[in-house]
Amino acid sequence: MSNAYSKDLERWMPRLIAVWRASRGRGDGPETRLTPQEVKEVAAGVRQLSLGLTRERQLAGARYMDDPKLLGAYLLFYWPVSYAQARQVLGELPNRPRQALDLGSGPGPVAFAALDAGAGEVTAADRSKAALNLARALATEAGEALATREWDPTKKAAALPEGQFDLVTMGHVVNELYGTGDAATAPRAALLEAVLAKVKRGGSLLVMEPALRETSRGLLHVRDAMVAKGYAVRAPCMYRGPCPALVKESDWCHAERAWPMPRVVEELARAASLHKEALKMSYLVLAPKDEDWPTLPPGKLFRIVSESLEGKGRQRYIGCGPDGRVGLAMQERHRTEKNDRFFQLNRGDVIAVTQTEPKGDGLALDDRSEVRMVAAAGRGVPPSPKEETPPTPPTTTDSSTR
Ligand SMILES: C[S@@+](CC[C@H](N)C(=O)[O-])C[C@H]1O[C@@H](n2cnc3c(N)ncnc32)[C@H](O)[C@@H]1O
Repeated sequence: MSNAYSKDLERWMPRLIAVWRASRGRGDGPETRLTPQEVKEVAAGVRQLSLGLTRERQLAGARYMDDPKLLGAYLLFYWPVSYAQARQVLGELPNRPRQALDLGSGPGPVAFAALDAGAGEVTAADRSKAALNLARALATEAGEALATREWDPTKKAAALPEGQFDLVTMGHVVNELYGTGDAATAPRAALLEAVLAKVKRGGSLLVMEPALRETSRGLLHVRDAMVAKGYAVRAPCMYRGPCPALVKESDWCHAERAWPMPRVVEELARAASLHKEALKMSYLVLAPKDEDWPTLPPGKLFRIVSESLEGKGRQRYIGCGPDGRVGLAMQERHRTEKNDRFFQLNRGDVIAVTQTEPKGDGLALDDRSEVRMVAAAGRGVPPSPKEETPPTPPTTTDSSTR
């Protein structure tokens, strides 16, 4: 699988291994892979992290980055995942960032993704000194400049790093802040508001979270709180009202992308008995105060927010667009050259459709419908061409024209 960042990720793997070995006081080993003993050892940590961060969640908000075994497992397994997720989402941003700040950076996967995506200066901030040490060691190994800062927003008087930024990223950290449940929404939204005050006009705040029901819905609640405060969403939402995925307890929203999974990650997943094929994450890109929602291209637009829900002789997905979240379905017998695309859509694709009829609780397409790809998953929705403003008539002081 080749992505725009495949080569960059390939270059990171030996650096991760070298920094991990150095941090554990190990001698040299093969550059691009782990020895069978190392795989066994790291996989035990991966398993513990996976249970603690995704299943039982008792590690969320705990100081697991300060445990060398778990930090090592994070570095070799979750770092490449977060890096690839961030590269995917950063590819959707309208502008290339110059100055970036990565909050809750851990050992820096998102910070380095921002650097590789073109940022010139990046500051990584976290409360874990051990994680920041590894981020600095990686920067040295890669010959990159990375500033680091200790930061913990849950501490009184915890100031954000100085300066204004084109991009602030928060990778898999928001769900670890301020506890769990509804009570966490308001302090998380207040933090995001403070963070957005550090984002320059035209810049973005990217929040990425694990694609679990609980963490994804937590992010959607924060999204609604930010929208209610007047902030615009740059991606992935096109709907400006309260998130329709929150109506039913069983719904949530996440992205899924194929990725060039490094061999080390594959080996560790196997050894830890984890199933990890596609990249899955929930994300939200917010604009700073007083910026408008993106102007959308013309047409009846939907982002595909489900997998293919193919049934007997019929293709179906859930779409979410400027009019909300609806089921979209078409019978196989209505397939034509102009709507054929509907039968091969991926989660995240944005399409424009014509000729839909309300049917059941969704919309049906038929052989009169056209389906056009507006933006494939992972590509930003192109803005609508600016409307021509009619020339202003010349002002005149000649009263005889009145
Ligand atoms: C799952 S890791 C994410 C690391 C990296 N951003 C990524 O996307 O892979 C969560 C990070 O949040 C940090 N974190 C958790 N609670 C924090 C807090 N109260 N203040 C600062 N950082 C915190 C942890 O130290 C850890 O590095």
